[in-house]
Amino acid sequence: MSTFQLTRTLAPDAAAADLRADVLHGLTRTPKELPPKWFYDARGSELFEEITRLPEYYPTRAEREILIDRAPEIAAATGARTLVELGSGSSEKTRFLIDALLPGLAAYVPVDVSESALTGAAEALLADRPELRVHALIADFTRSVVLPETPGPRLVAFLGGTIGNLLPEERRTFLRSVREMTAPGDGFLLGTDLVKDESTLVAAYDDAAGVTAEFNKNVLAVLDRELGADAHPDDFDHVARWDREREWIEMRLRARHALTVKIPELDLMVEFEEGEELRTEVSAKFRQEGVRAELAEAGFELTRWWTDAEGRFALSLATAL
Ligand code: SAH
Ligand code: TRP
Repeated sequence: MSTFQLTRTLAPDAAAADLRADVLHGLTRTPKELPPKWFYDARGSELFEEITRLPEYYPTRAEREILIDRAPEIAAATGARTLVELGSGSSEKTRFLIDALLPGLAAYVPVDVSESALTGAAEALLADRPELRVHALIADFTRSVVLPETPGPRLVAFLGGTIGNLLPEERRTFLRSVREMTAPGDGFLLGTDLVKDESTLVAAYDDAAGVTAEFNKNVLAVLDRELGADAHPDDFDHVARWDREREWIEMRLRARHALTVKIPELDLMVEFEEGEELRTEVSAKFRQEGVRAELAEAGFELTRWWTDAEGRFALSLATAL
């Protein structure tokens, strides 16, 4: 019996239609913006994995530290038989959770837009755990996700601080949809990066080796490949800025000089003035009170709050009410 199953809930042409709509909307408005999910083609997923190993990018190491310490407690508190993970990527940190939940765990359901990340992650997990059942879903977690029928209780995990990449209103909708994936008593495990000093935050999104800059510019390569555009990475600078008021990092691409990007597939010419910026991503940082309130509004009760020893990153365990 095969222990790996992959379900494509996004038709490949649906993704293409989404990209066209997002680009058309985002590049014809002021200020220009693009949603972050388009970073993650195969190259983008690879670059993100490289980011997680950078000395400046502390969130992955901090969250791994918490997971290693707390996985047994999480397993005991939830007794989960199905682990659903949204935006699972390489599932590298998740293995600590999976190992604590096995052998009671009937299924691991990683959900991601990146097919290459999903197949790579499943291969790595199954190499050491042949008894694990992996049912991967290619799906967009900002849309309603239809989960396979697997035994409860369920634990839904959303790690990496990825929730910070959603805008406040999107976050509200997203958290409600997570609540709809769960039954009363099910668990939700949420990783959030925390507000801290500006220099630490900016360095994490503007590393000395330039990997984050390359990742940010990868969205241009996606436009060129998928829509026949002629955007050139050297025409843009990578910008990471801390917005003190909103408490988020904003990632942008700034035109080095006035230029026009042609997008033949959309019959579109996009003009950039010199210095004009395109917002590619926000990464919001959190405080405990805010996380508790947002969870409560969506129908979850925060039951545990853990941070790494340096207090940089938090893992919240919540229960569906
Ligand atoms: N959870 C991993 C990866 C975080 S990077 C970690 O903690 O290291 C964010 C992941 O979310 C990527 O794998 C990306 O492909 C995925 N992703 C981004 N937007 C998404 C969306 N709208 N729907 C599904 N997956 C998405
Ligand atoms: N979820 C990650 C974060 O907000 C994603 C990320 C890290 C990212 N570095 C990036 C996204 C650089 C775009 C550009 O930390």
